[in-house]
Amino acid sequence: MDPRAILCLALAVVLAGPALAADAARDAALDKKTAAIIERDFHAKGIARADRVKQDELQRLCTQFHDQPPQKIAERVERAQQAAIKWPADGSYLGDWRAGEKLAQSGAGMTWSDPAGTPAGGNCYNCHQLSAKEIAFGTIGPSLLHFGRSRGNTPETQRYVYARIYNAKAQNMCANMPRFGHLAILSEAQIKDLVSLLLDPESPVNKD
Ligand code: HEC
Repeated sequence: MDPRAILCLALAVVLAGPALAADAARDAALDKKTAAIIERDFHAKGIARADRVKQDELQRLCTQFHDQPPQKIAERVERAQQAAIKWPADGSYLGDWRAGEKLAQSGAGMTWSDPAGTPAGGNCYNCHQLSAKEIAFGTIGPSLLHFGRSRGNTPETQRYVYARIYNAKAQNMCANMPRFGHLAILSEAQIKDLVSLLLDPESPVNKD
């Protein structure tokens, strides 16, 4: 290597070290400021209680590592989330795909003006494509069109989909998908309806 190139490289390393440390300190200060603003400005109203902005350990770690936690931490947290999955007592993962379709296309629930006990929708359409006929859908998550056709409807796939909906973060700690079962947003029966929506050959996900 050209000695001048070596000198440049050495200089870059010496200069980048403190710059990276300064970046990290600035990020940490901004994170703290943001947390303080959320705490100050989020007020409990109706069913939306202030504890919604309190992060659990997983959320704290994803914030701290900007959604890229070290592998060791991710493995430990994912194992704990996996162990907390409550599997259906009757051993069946399937429900009614028609009810699942209504749920998947509903963004209702968890709003401060909802009376306590209002069942929540699944909001799936906000992040996933779910049928060839949808006019609009979100793209934060992968398209689930023809999900059952491509994955099959085996007991293993049913269990996988149940777990994904129950707690997506058991598979991918900082995934952008809400933990529907873990946080009791959806019930066991509702999750089963959604498993059927994704896997039943007759459902709009797979039919056309
Ligand atoms: C806020 C966005 C969001 C919402 C709402 C959401 N998901 Fe997801 N979903 C994602 C993302 C992002 C992924 C990819 C996860 C990853 O990165 O591991 C995903 C992954 C999945 C997967 C795994 C796909 C595969 O290829 O194996 C399934 C199944 C799934 N979602 C079903 C659902 C269902 C059913 C609902 C509604 C109850 C739902 N999702 C709601 C964002 C979302």
